[in-house]
Amino acid sequence: MGRGWFITFEGGEGSGKTTQVRRLEEHLRGGGHEVVVTREPGGTAVAEAVRAVLLDPAQDPDPLTELFLLEAARRDHVERVIRPALERGAVVLCDRFADSSVVYQGLVGGVEAATVERLNRLATGGLEPDLTFVLDLPAEEGLARVGRRNGGGSGNRIDGHPLEFHRRVRDAFLELARRGGRRFRILPARQDEDRLFELLLDELPEELR
Ligand code: TYD
Repeated sequence: MGRGWFITFEGGEGSGKTTQVRRLEEHLRGGGHEVVVTREPGGTAVAEAVRAVLLDPAQDPDPLTELFLLEAARRDHVERVIRPALERGAVVLCDRFADSSVVYQGLVGGVEAATVERLNRLATGGLEPDLTFVLDLPAEEGLARVGRRNGGGSGNRIDGHPLEFHRRVRDAFLELARRGGRRFRILPARQDEDRLFELLLDELPEELR
């Protein structure tokens, strides 16, 4: 099929996804692969504009409104960036993807699962990751990392939700990964980043190691 690899990174705030994405990018480039690094919400001009609205602490959309915004961004991102890259045979590393909507807007936000699934499918045209890493960390530790990164207070609107919200996010990702099938790998993120990266490499398909 000449299709590349689509690898997504999920987890709560401050779980270290971005660092691991960068390390994997470097590793794969060293192995001669074309690598596209991107994120959600984001990755195109339209989607980055949606991101700015979604994460603006001055706004207060409800979870279904968030979902519509996210899916508009996702559709643009898949059509303009992810699918063309996969068709070229690139490895696409995406910091969050449709599973984040299942967790944040669905399992935690209360939007019905069937609605999230339907909108995800519409936006992605059925595209699913080949592999999804869930970086797992107690919510308190993740938030503490975000706090240090932002020199104190919370960064964006969603980081700023109460601790209980972030605990539910963690549990929901674990639940999703456990029942979600073969593409999920849960990585214990509460350890140094070198060791974490070794664990991650062990989970890669042979041709990407
Ligand atoms: P970001 O700063 O990228 O968070 P992180 O560094 O933790 O990845 O902000 C993205 C936020 O958007 C994050 O709080 C999760 C939220 N989000 C959703 O609620 N639903 C989604 O489908 C996606 C992709 C993100």
